[in-house]
Amino acid sequence: MSAYAQELKNTAQAMVSNGQGILAMDESNGTCNKRFDKVGIPTSEEMRRSYRELILTTPNVGNYISGAILYDETIRQSTKDGKPFTQVMKDQDVIIGIKVDTGAKDLAKFPGEKVTEGLTGLRDRLSEYYKMGARFSKWRAVITIGDGIPTQFCIDANAHALARYAALCQENGLVPIVEPEVLINGDHTIEQCYDVTNQTLWTVFDQLHRHRVEFDKMVLKPSMVISGLDCPQQASPKQVAEWTIKCLRKSVPADVAGIAFLSGGQTPEQAAEHLHWMNSEPLKSQCPWPVTFSYARAIQQPALENWKGQESNAGEAQKLLHHRAKMNSVASQGQYSSDKEKEPAMA
Ligand code: 13P
Repeated sequence: MSAYAQELKNTAQAMVSNGQGILAMDESNGTCNKRFDKVGIPTSEEMRRSYRELILTTPNVGNYISGAILYDETIRQSTKDGKPFTQVMKDQDVIIGIKVDTGAKDLAKFPGEKVTEGLTGLRDRLSEYYKMGARFSKWRAVITIGDGIPTQFCIDANAHALARYAALCQENGLVPIVEPEVLINGDHTIEQCYDVTNQTLWTVFDQLHRHRVEFDKMVLKPSMVISGLDCPQQASPKQVAEWTIKCLRKSVPADVAGIAFLSGGQTPEQAAEHLHWMNSEPLKSQCPWPVTFSYARAIQQPALENWKGQESNAGEAQKLLHHRAKMNSVASQGQYSSDKEKEPAMA
């Protein structure tokens, strides 16, 4: 058994403990700059630092967030007063997570499909991140639904990389978040999304098992089973919750420490509502694992749009971030309703 066995188990359980979820703030510099550009924020290292300081210093965010996923640039940064972000997180009781893949790249000879890279040198990087205080990590694979895709080859390649990553994480004391994202983009139906998600998860867990990954020391970060953004027939929130739990029950071992969904382009309110229905009866008691969130856009977007890079907007932006974290915490306990959205921020 690994020297880290007990620590890994404790960390995995803490990441998905009741009423808490994970904040993804691990956008690569490229992705972060794209989001800044859209709302007119200058794209510089200092702006990215300043934005991440705003997020991490939001008062009491640790009540709703068990952990936050950082990017390599961010884990090395500090507040403008010189306090390392890792210390800010420890003081808020927020577990430090780190994105370790180096991005989804075009899969040669498979048009329209991607494979995630980042295994080279990963063991050394994980050991450095552990020393910096990180206790969990993330690797995102991307599966696209389209004409004749995904191919089983693409799913296999991504599942293999995810499993190699997860095994290395457990060897080095970090809980792996395993994230196979089936993209919401396209005009596919919820049934098509169900089939692809099911096929993907089966393949991923087969590979994880072959790589001897211990399921009780990992967290799965799936996409929800949902209608494509351009599908004329949009499934209702309850249907999304039902199809998603049905799919996960068929393909995710009961031993997995927890499920923490990505938001994937859903609006903040949709992401909260879907999570709410999954944590309400009759679905809740069908789930052998805790089901919570690991959202980026569905937590950050209102705050980012309000901040606009202006110091004078920081307080208001923090209120909006706090509100979204709280809404998702409430949803993860099956207590969300649209009325709750009207409660004063930061209460
Ligand atoms: P979204 O919630 O914005 O989809 O991001 C989650 C994430 O971490 C993607 O890797």
